[in-house]
Amino acid sequence: MHCTISNQNYIPMPSLSFSWAVATTSTAPSSPSFYGKPSTAKSSTCFQVSCNARNDDQNASNSRGKFDRRNMLLGLGGIYGSTLTSNPSTLAAPIQPPNLSKCGPPSDANTGESLNVNCCPPANQPVDYQLPKPTVMRFRPAAHLVTKEYIAKYNKAIQLMKSLKDDDPRSFMQQANVHCAYCNGAYDQVGFDDLDLQVHNSWLFFPFHRWYLYFFERILGSLIGDPTFGLPFWNWDSPKGMTFPPMFLDQNSSLFNAKRNQDHLTSIVDLGYNGSDDGKSPLQTVANNFNIMYNEMVRNVKLIEDFMGQPYRAGGAVNPGAGAPERGTHTAIHLYVGDPRETRREDLGNFYSAGRDPIFYCHHANVDRMWKIWRDLRGSKPKDFNDKDWLNASFVFYDENAQLVRVKVSDTLSNERMGYVYQQVDIPWLNFRPQARVQRSKVATTSGAPSTADIKFPLALDKITKILVTRPKKSRKQRDKEREEELLVIDGIEVETANFVKFDVFVNDEDDKIDELDKSEYVGTFAQVPHSHKGPKKVKTSIRLGLTELLEDLDVEDDDSILVSLVPRAGDVTIGGIKIIYLSI
Ligand code: C2O
Repeated sequence: MHCTISNQNYIPMPSLSFSWAVATTSTAPSSPSFYGKPSTAKSSTCFQVSCNARNDDQNASNSRGKFDRRNMLLGLGGIYGSTLTSNPSTLAAPIQPPNLSKCGPPSDANTGESLNVNCCPPANQPVDYQLPKPTVMRFRPAAHLVTKEYIAKYNKAIQLMKSLKDDDPRSFMQQANVHCAYCNGAYDQVGFDDLDLQVHNSWLFFPFHRWYLYFFERILGSLIGDPTFGLPFWNWDSPKGMTFPPMFLDQNSSLFNAKRNQDHLTSIVDLGYNGSDDGKSPLQTVANNFNIMYNEMVRNVKLIEDFMGQPYRAGGAVNPGAGAPERGTHTAIHLYVGDPRETRREDLGNFYSAGRDPIFYCHHANVDRMWKIWRDLRGSKPKDFNDKDWLNASFVFYDENAQLVRVKVSDTLSNERMGYVYQQVDIPWLNFRPQARVQRSKVATTSGAPSTADIKFPLALDKITKILVTRPKKSRKQRDKEREEELLVIDGIEVETANFVKFDVFVNDEDDKIDELDKSEYVGTFAQVPHSHKGPKKVKTSIRLGLTELLEDLDVEDDDSILVSLVPRAGDVTIGGIKIIYLSI
């Protein structure tokens, strides 16, 4: 197997409406000046979007409440080194690593029951991690394409990790617990005892998991004495990778796990999984999967936060909003693999137990690969937040020498710089710009559906709900559309975190075939992996979905309004409002 650090050649489809430069550099310069237009202004704009919403506790604590707390922090001696100015982002503070000596038990938010696990790591003082200059590249292969030799090596490494003593921070159990502790309310935010530290549903999602896999991989490599060892990625975005990678199904392998959905071991993965099987044909599933990928990698994610997730800063409430891939394919695979025979769909179906299944790390390697692909697709557009609260957010992990280290988000921007590359494989969804089923103007106004003004929010989504949403701007010029994205915002989404919750969003969908997602009318999804936390049972969050390209496909740029269908798929959910906004790209 050879090792390469060159980039994949993306061949953009001519009809795509925005320019995709073929990426030619493989490493993003880390100097902030590279990122061009600072995104600070943009972040505070979208910040406004969610806090303007309505009388919404969560949003209030994301905004005004947070500023109060930041002021408090600064008043306490400016420990975050910020200067007081009127710019909110300079008042902010990055999320700090947890204090391990204060780690507590995770609990089930709905029942208040303890989950009967202790997922706290040994408490030690961390040292700052220096990213080593890579001398050799680790090669991460597609899991369905690996050789027998690779499987043997990988098996051996996991087996050795499983045989380490439970209190060794490099042991498989301790590694699985990393996820439990960071995701199920075992840690408070430093300085905010009433707030959980949560690495999902925000802009920390990609960087946190990149670090997590980084150390997991290095521990495996060191256990087998192979500094080139790379984790496999579950290539679920490509047809031949759309089943469980066979090596995970061998009962005699250290990669085997009994707690998986037994009906899914050989079927085609459903990246739009709703929590139960709905009898779709395998062909329909593959077609849906392509459009889900296209939506969450291209159409819905022109703005950085719509891919990465919304800002989450010190003193901020959990779940400000997940990026499209986190709520979409990432969540779908967790639920698709989790075992419905288990109380909480263990292992993959709940955050506290997900890391106990070796396939978790293979799934997340593909999630991480999507981050790289998306960055490459950005061409000359900014690829990262240029926001100190993101760049300086930090976590702690145990490294391959069982040393506790503190790491920063700013060291995760380039996988090559972190010493690993992905096998180059086809990206079949890249050109999958779907067709509209119906191109008819004034669908919305002739539908008879109530408009947002006629609806009393909060609104429970207990059935398919159609709403007429007014577009503040219409007949936009091409130039404007390239500068400003039209976004559908659904905010005040209230859910119990302990449940699997999902709803899908369609625009001007007249045929109402809700299991067919391979059409322009399907816009995207809200979904969350069940997890617990200490605060109130319910949290509020929001999503944004890019509309510009969709409105072109439906040929309704001149319409005053659109018809939004909200299709509940799993769990109880209410929404606080729905509207269209415009933000510069
Ligand atoms: Cu931390 Cu897929 O979850």
